[in-house]
Amino acid sequence: MVASRNGRYLSTDSNKVHEPFKSDSDKVDEPFKVEEAETVNVPPPPTEKLLVLGGNGFVGSHICKEAVDRGLHVASLSRSGRPSINDSWVNNVTWHQGNLLSSDSWTEALNGVTSVISCVGGFGSQSYMYKINGTANINAIRAASETGVKRYVYISAADFGLANYLLQGYYEGKRAAETELLTKFAYGGVILRPGFIYGTRNVGSVKLPLGVIGSPLEMEHGSSTCKTTQTDSPCRALVYSPVKVTAVAKVAVRAATDPVFPPGVVDVYGIMRYSQQRAA
Ligand SMILES: NC(=O)c1ccc[n+]([C@@H]2O[C@H](COP(=O)([O-])OP(=O)(O)OC[C@H]3O[C@@H](n4cnc5c(N)ncnc54)[C@H](OP(=O)(O)O)[C@@H]3O)[C@@H](O)[C@H]2O)c1
Repeated sequence: MVASRNGRYLSTDSNKVHEPFKSDSDKVDEPFKVEEAETVNVPPPPTEKLLVLGGNGFVGSHICKEAVDRGLHVASLSRSGRPSINDSWVNNVTWHQGNLLSSDSWTEALNGVTSVISCVGGFGSQSYMYKINGTANINAIRAASETGVKRYVYISAADFGLANYLLQGYYEGKRAAETELLTKFAYGGVILRPGFIYGTRNVGSVKLPLGVIGSPLEMEHGSSTCKTTQTDSPCRALVYSPVKVTAVAKVAVRAATDPVFPPGVVDVYGIMRYSQQRAA
């Protein structure tokens, strides 16, 4: 105990409760009181956690690499899981196995995820194409919106006129998934619609340089007077410029993580434009 100027005794023991002050004149030179430190549960700073659906495929693996290079926490989900590529970025991805068509065998992969990019799609019979491009993606979009995912990017595909009829299941599936995305993620949903995507495709541990075909085509179409996305264009089916897989990956990761990236559909020329902008 210590005596104050006005003769009152003050305790130096911080656990003791002092008499409340009645007026300014009552105030004493009380020693600075240090409260005992408390452990407060403050959540860790928010971190982006990206889940790439189909991250072991052609487009998905480039997206995973781009996201790892940008320092994001990256996970992938697909039926076969970790690919047999020897690149170092593969070790920085968490690989989950699961089938989007089987009810909830895979939903644990969404824990803590802030954004999703879906590269799940494929070809086959009309009904299979509808299921893999449509139903599988609709399941994923619904589950993601229920677990609080903020942003969702779907790799869809440009229309190809006549091929739309031949690949009816493919396009109907794509458009059904797009509609679901714009409904469930009105503010954070982005649809990329590339035409032909070229770049290095990993088949097992072999790398196939598809750029040999795509790159000259992109240059050709880049200067084409027929470059248009208008639906009544006679050359629409053939002139969608091929786009490099690294450009698709760059735009997809940006769309999934940049909160001001506008929601909605991005066509092939939009993909090219965004890919030439510097990352934020
Ligand atoms: N490549 C192009 O030129 C091109 C052009 C325009 C649009 N696209 C679109 O871009 C997307 C990616 O194409 P891509 O060429 O990268 O295809 P891809 O190599 O065949 O990749 C498809 C991915 O989906 C996964 N997958 C398939 N079914 C699944 C299921 N039921 N559950 C979970 N994962 C499943 C596959 O992995 P598992 O087999 O291990 O499950 C694979 O990782 C597709 O939607 C495609 O339609 C591609």
